[in-house]
This record gives sequence, C-alpha cells and structure tokens, in this order.
Amino acid sequence: MSTTTLSSTVALVTGASSGIGQATARRLAAEGATVVLVARRQDRIEVLAKEITGQGGQAVTLGADLTDPDAAAGVVATAIERLGRMDILVNAAGVMLNGPSTAAPLEEWQRMVNININGLLYVTKAALPHLIEAATDSPRQVADVVNISSIAGRFIIPDAAVYNATKFGVTAATESWRQEFARRNVRFAVVEPGLVDTELMGHQQAAVKENMAARFADVEYLQADDIAEAVAYIVTGPRRRAVAEVVIRPTDQI
Ligand SMILES: NC(=O)c1ccc[n+]([C@@H]2O[C@H](COP(=O)([O-])OP(=O)(O)OC[C@H]3O[C@@H](n4cnc5c(N)ncnc54)[C@H](OP(=O)(O)O)[C@@H]3O)[C@@H](O)[C@H]2O)c1
Repeated sequence: MSTTTLSSTVALVTGASSGIGQATARRLAAEGATVVLVARRQDRIEVLAKEITGQGGQAVTLGADLTDPDAAAGVVATAIERLGRMDILVNAAGVMLNGPSTAAPLEEWQRMVNININGLLYVTKAALPHLIEAATDSPRQVADVVNISSIAGRFIIPDAAVYNATKFGVTAATESWRQEFARRNVRFAVVEPGLVDTELMGHQQAAVKENMAARFADVEYLQADDIAEAVAYIVTGPRRRAVAEVVIRPTDQI
C-alpha cells in the first residue's frame, strides 16, 4: 500500500480528551504529525501530550469549548501562531443525547447542535485558509479534513431525531466541501462509525443508556483505535487518492 509520511505536518484534532479523537491524535502523532490536542478538559489533553512527547512525538494542548465561535477561531489562530501551519483537521468533538423527543430536554438538543454542527463549522471555517495554503506548499501537496459523522449520518434511526439531524448535516457539509475544494487539493472525508466503546453513551439519561446497553448487549463494540486506523488510512494516502466516505460497523451490528 502506498502511503506518505506525516512528518513536517501539523494535525489539529478536536475531541482529543477521549475516545475517537484521543485515539486519532495518538495515531497521527505516531505517523509523524505534530498534533494539536483540543478539548475542554485541559487535564486530559495534557496527560495525552505527555504520553506523545514521551514517545518522541510532538503535541500541543489547547483547551477550548468549541461551541463558542471566538474560542474555536482562537484555537486555530493559536495553533498557527505556535506551529506556523495546518495540514490536517480532524473534527471528532461531539455528543449524543438520544431518547424519546417528548421527554427530551430542549437543552440536550441545543448541546448536540452546538457542538456536532456549530463547533465543527466554526473550526473548519477558521482552518480553511491554512489548509488551502498547506496544500500548495507542503511536500504532500495536499491537505485533509476528516469529519467524524456516524452511521446516524447515513441511516435514520428512531429516538435520535436531533443526533440524526446533526450527523446528516456533517455528512452533507463534508460532501459539499469535498466538491468545492477538490481542485485546491484539500481532501474532505467523512467517517461514519457504528458502535464504538467510548464515553459517548455515558452522557445520556440513565433510562436511555440502559435501553441502548440492553439492545446491543451481544454486540462486540468497535474500539476507538479502529476508527483512528481509518483516519490514518485517509490522511496518509498519496495526493491522488481521496477517500470521501467510510462506514465502519461492528461486525455483528445490523
Ligand atoms: N462512540 C460511538 O459509538 C460513535 C459512533 C459514531 C460516531 N461517533 C462520533 O465520534 C465523535 C467522538 O465521539 P466519541 O465516541 O469519541 O465520544 P467521547 O469519548 O465522549 O468523546 C467526545 C469528545 O468530544 C469533546 N467535546 C464534547 N463537547 C465539546 C465542546 N463543547 N468543546 C470541545 N470539545 C468537546 C470531548 O471533550 P471534553 O469533554 O473534554 O470537551 C471529548 O473529547 C463524536 O462526534 C461522535 O458523535 C461516536
């Protein structure tokens, strides 16, 4: 398989304090990228940064709540100030708060829209000029945005109206951007995982959590590393190869 190294590249990963973002940051650092770790829990990203630098990699931490447009733009600006470039953006920050709509607090719907959609838009908007620049001046001659959507961004499921809406939004925006930026060598990919063993489910109301756990009790969940591997495949591909979309489910998830 033909791959390109990520040495001399900078990769900003949101959601780096946990789950898929954390595993992806580790993986891209191992491929040679300098990783910018973004999440609200500064303590967590600092532990990860220490682990990465301890293994000879390079990492910078930037704590931020990405639902704030100024904070999101600030993260990109600070990364550029400190590292001078951005080659790869992985938008993994997100929340899932499912359940029957009649009982759902409006605040849960707002939280999903605010991070899954708005946060991703704010970071991507701020990063675009830098990614376009990296695509022209880097040895790879390409830049990458990988958005972590979900199978809920490709298939409709019940009791998930707003999560579905946010993830369909991510999938749609990514494909539109792919078409818009293809001729400027910025690749846009969407990754749509099924069940992954992370903290994601844990933020839901107790009854919803129990219901989901029971429904999928006999499924062997994916590990966050499985998704990180897909992201690595996408961003280490040679300039000619643009992966637009990857759906990954546990083998026994229908
Ligand atoms: N796990 C699954 O089964 C699954 C399946 C399909 C898709 N996904 C998607 O994969 C992505 C990653 O989820 P995960 O499974 O890795 O869940 P996770 O372990 O809960 O990680 C979520 C990450 O998002 C960050 N985040 C949440 N709100 C934020 C905010 N306002 N500002 C900045 N960062 C924020 C969290 O960091 P802080 O709390 O420190 O801010 C955390 O690092 C999500 O978009 C999710 O929808 C997950």
